[in-house]
Amino acid sequence: MANQSGKIVAGFLAPHPPHLVYAENPPQNEPRSEGGWEVLRWGYQRVRDSLAALDFDTIIVHSPHWKTTTGTHVLALPRFASLSVDPIFPNLFRYRYDLQVDVELARAIIEEGRRDGLVVQPMENPDFRVDYGTITSCHLARPQWDKPIVGLSSSRSAFYFSNEVGQEEMLALGRATRRAVEQSGRRVVLLASNSLSHRHFTAEPAVPEDMSAERPYSFNQYQWDMHVIELMRQGRCAQLLDEMPDFIEQATSECKDGSLTWMLGALEVPDWPATVHAYGTVIGTGNAVVEWRAP
Ligand SMILES: [Fe+2]
Repeated sequence: MANQSGKIVAGFLAPHPPHLVYAENPPQNEPRSEGGWEVLRWGYQRVRDSLAALDFDTIIVHSPHWKTTTGTHVLALPRFASLSVDPIFPNLFRYRYDLQVDVELARAIIEEGRRDGLVVQPMENPDFRVDYGTITSCHLARPQWDKPIVGLSSSRSAFYFSNEVGQEEMLALGRATRRAVEQSGRRVVLLASNSLSHRHFTAEPAVPEDMSAERPYSFNQYQWDMHVIELMRQGRCAQLLDEMPDFIEQATSECKDGSLTWMLGALEVPDWPATVHAYGTVIGTGNAVVEWRAP
């Protein structure tokens, strides 16, 4: 792990509503649907097309739904396989997964994180059930499952301390991730698995994919999402990070769980324009599919 030729080739904001997998009816998912949330799924098709044109070895994904109280945990066995069920939407997501892990890169991230004083540890329980956020983002971006992944958990610092503390920790984890990638010789794609605005309706329509019931939860949430997306489009990610604590509080954003901040840290806080592939709501939450192609 010393040839220093590794590179992050692209990063994606790749949110994980299980509805999008449900709507697609892949063979791994038990429930059947009549479609729905097409605009977001067309956006993910553009992600798939981007990845098809990229030369890369490994996907690193940071998920809000692997919530760990003692720092960051990292998938660190070669294979995990089981049935993943969304605890909130078991009617929509019961997905059989069988995934490969890039253990060498996982261990390098752990080592680099510890070098910076972060608490980072390997997940080595062969019966561990991988969370649905990791699985959904990976499936939507690369349904072939032909690349190994590295899965990072969401440390709870933002919840125990403050948004500012959580954000600093995620930026540090991002910098450690970047160093590990560069030393590994891998060409890597990053997935930040969180939604934007995140307050959602508490009742589901009789047919979950009935799009006549789908809209932003509130005008406030919609305005915040559009503001944040415009900052991404203009390459103003430093300003986005400055405003992130307010965005999290005022739009109940899932960015609190750290995925986007980790990725922006790993990309050295982009000052170039991102490509927005799609925006849409899922039970009222705001979801953007966004690509940062590394220069
Ligand atoms: Fe979520």
